[in-house]
Amino acid sequence: MIQKLISLWILLQCAFVTSVFGENAVLKGEASDLDELSATRKPKEGSIKFNMRKSLDLEHEGCFLETGKKECLEKCGFNATSKSIFIIHGWTMSGMFENWMHKLVSAVMQRETQANVVVVDWIPMAQQLYPDAVNHTRGVGQDIADMLDWLQAEAEMPLGNVHLIGYSLGAHVAGYAGTFVQGTIGRITGLDPAGPMFEGATEQKRLSSDDADFVDVLHTYTREALGVSIGIQQPIGDIDIYPNGGDVQPGCAIGDVLAVAGNFMEVMKCEHERAVHLFVDSLMNKDHMSYAFQCTDPERFKKGICLSCRKNRCNNIGYNARKMRKRHTTKMYLKTRADTPFGGFHFQLKMHVFDRKSSVDPDPTFHVKLYGAHNDSTDIYVEVPDNKIGLNATNTFLVFTEEDIGDLLKIELSWEGDGESWSSVWKSFRKSFFTWNTNLNKPVLQVRRIRVKAGETQKKFTFCVPDETKMDISPGDSLTFVKCRDGWDSKPRKRLPM
Ligand SMILES: *[C@@H]1O[C@H](CO)[C@@H](O)[C@H](O)[C@H]1NC(C)=O
Ligand SMILES: *[C@@H]1O[C@H](CO)[C@@H](O)[C@H](O)[C@H]1NC(C)=O
Ligand SMILES: *[C@@H]1O[C@H](CO)[C@@H](O)[C@H](O)[C@H]1NC(C)=O
Ligand SMILES: *[C@@H]1O[C@H](CO)[C@@H](O)[C@H](O)[C@H]1NC(C)=O
Repeated sequence: MIQKLISLWILLQCAFVTSVFGENAVLKGEASDLDELSATRKPKEGSIKFNMRKSLDLEHEGCFLETGKKECLEKCGFNATSKSIFIIHGWTMSGMFENWMHKLVSAVMQRETQANVVVVDWIPMAQQLYPDAVNHTRGVGQDIADMLDWLQAEAEMPLGNVHLIGYSLGAHVAGYAGTFVQGTIGRITGLDPAGPMFEGATEQKRLSSDDADFVDVLHTYTREALGVSIGIQQPIGDIDIYPNGGDVQPGCAIGDVLAVAGNFMEVMKCEHERAVHLFVDSLMNKDHMSYAFQCTDPERFKKGICLSCRKNRCNNIGYNARKMRKRHTTKMYLKTRADTPFGGFHFQLKMHVFDRKSSVDPDPTFHVKLYGAHNDSTDIYVEVPDNKIGLNATNTFLVFTEEDIGDLLKIELSWEGDGESWSSVWKSFRKSFFTWNTNLNKPVLQVRRIRVKAGETQKKFTFCVPDETKMDISPGDSLTFVKCRDGWDSKPRKRLPM
């Protein structure tokens, strides 16, 4: 059954890619000769609409801004001293706004009640074969720039108060607007900017950090299929945030989505669109911000190495992101929950695992349970990135809790016993298969302390076994660690550069 579903999904994905990118699709960064063409192809007059939203009521049509028509400004109640937020959609098959648009508009309006909220409607040019829609991004960007120039001239709107939010292809439209406008736009947010035909393209031909004073990007669907990734993989802004590694988003697994939507297109949309929902979440849940942490790659992040906030190494995600200047590449990572509120809590656990008995391939499968002042976590499987716990070595792990457990009080470390799960059955099978002696003594490891750093609070604690004679752990056992002060972290130590 699962096998069938997966092959069907792959088939559909292929069908999707061919239909999206056309039969003779130019897939990667080869848009060079498109430019001369698109430069001469200015979109037809009136085909782009600037719909200023006046009410949360979806039925309410709002009001349209048009360059050169001063009376529109008054009619729409455009307030030049307020923020102006422009929302730009991406490529569309349906020719209609998708549901996320309404969610995003209403979240922006509720958060910024004084702001001018404008939906840029370029649907006639976006509802085309993908390469044709790509050809239009430059012209639409130019039109937005013209609108912004007119607002600067006519209403004395400061460009620094302008924030463009572009989803998918709309992110690159925003990039062109930033290139063509006179002056510098305050901020551009790219929500999973489109990858095909932009990956590897030069800065002028995609969203880039010089298109606005601050460019922040969320990457949620950067998994490659048939050599293309729907969302751009490379970092392109001042900060580039890759939630869950920018790849598998929780709640978007084929089973999860089919259970709710029953439609294969939704499976793909789920991860691409997740960027929008994370942004909406950041607008709505101001009190529970999600933090992202700078790291050189997702594997290091998964080991919990990168939970530092020093020297601007962490930032809020989405709307609450603080402006930062670009260093070389600022890739940032975080884990999220599967649904809103998406934010959770990151912990770095460091422990020295001592091999007491020189055991043959003990290969432990660890779980931890965190006990906090407010609540306790569930039993959390300790993910080991390269599937090997270092013996006689200090190991670093990342543990993520969905609940706010408050200050950490106690940690329970357990070693899954043989036969408790398929993975341990497999491990013991492998062990008896690959070693001569099937009648091994039980492996015994020793863990004395666990050092913990909480990403969200940046607090550090050390946890010790209460009874120094009981530090051994074997399959099926568990150890409990309580807060202690043993001076491990009392002197500030020099950090290694990341
Ligand atoms: C325009 O916006 C500013 C700043 O948000 C606000 O103080 C002012 O009251 C607004 N003016 C009108 C007419 O709404
Ligand atoms: C966009 O560029 C392609 C590739 O060169 C070109 O063949 C096509 O004519 C352009 N699309 C449109 C709609 O003109
Ligand atoms: C770890 O150290 C102990 C004691 O020195 C030794 O017996 C054991 O073989 C070592 N294990 C590994 C995997 O190096
Ligand atoms: C404690 O956590 C559990 C899940 O681990 C959750 O169901 C419960 O609502 C939480 N209780 C409080 C008081 O937050």
